[in-house]
Amino acid sequence: MKKNFLVIGNPIDHSLSPKLHNYWIKKYRINAVYEKKLLHNSEIEDLIFNIREEKIHGLNVTVPFKKMVIPFLDELSEEAKISQSVNTIYKKDDKIIGDNTDIEGFKLSLEKTGQEIKNKKALILGAGGVVPSIIMALKKMQIGKICLSNRTELKAIELKKNFPEIEIIKWGNTLDFDIIINATSIGLKEEDEININYQQISKNKFFYDVIYNPPETNFLKIAKKHGGITKNGKMMFIYQAQKAFFIWHKVIPEIDNETINFLDA
Ligand code: ATR
Repeated sequence: MKKNFLVIGNPIDHSLSPKLHNYWIKKYRINAVYEKKLLHNSEIEDLIFNIREEKIHGLNVTVPFKKMVIPFLDELSEEAKISQSVNTIYKKDDKIIGDNTDIEGFKLSLEKTGQEIKNKKALILGAGGVVPSIIMALKKMQIGKICLSNRTELKAIELKKNFPEIEIIKWGNTLDFDIIINATSIGLKEEDEININYQQISKNKFFYDVIYNPPETNFLKIAKKHGGITKNGKMMFIYQAQKAFFIWHKVIPEIDNETINFLDA
């Protein structure tokens, strides 16, 4: 029987998950199909019911549903529980389980850059759905200090309740950091620019943008001009997908140049 997988979000058009998962599904000759679905809040419950009924066999969840799906699930993995963020759903032993593969995705992508994270100082821009996962990954990598800045300070204060060790910085203030992560949606539009004082950041600092489409946001372009080292979120995306693929199909799909280039085509 062909198994059905979906990524849900709103918006969802930009998602490359179907492309990547279907590429691996074909490569490993798995009898499945992976599609995307634009979802509205009122449809979450029905969709989860379809997993119970085994009409759908797995879901990836993206903005803005990563937290919203939680009340409809039976169990959360430890990582999903602490981050209060679910990006992968499946059924096991008659239970609907929510997992979070963003944490591992972000962590692996950072490790592969070879950048030293231990005892370093990070600044996260944004307080949206993916930020708890980024905080957890940085903590696992023994970051020294995490500062966080969000336009709506209240959301940063909410986050601090879960992660009291983070320091909140006023939106628009920039200090010197070893690693700066853009986790806002600024940059999704080509012309978007973040208000950062690049002069205050010394050379050879590391700029990471969770956005991978467009491949080089102004945040990264300008950082590069100021002598920064830059990385986009493409490998985070691929690694989170690899882990979800393993959860569903028990196959670890290979990430080679062909896979990476295929996504750009
Ligand atoms: P959600 O908040 O629903 O999880 P998200 O896309 O994960 O959505 O998060 C969007 C992030 O980008 C938020 O941190 C948002 O800041 P606010 O909390 O103030 O909304 C940030 N963001 C989006 N557009 C922005 C802008 N023009 N200026 C500053 N921050 C912006």
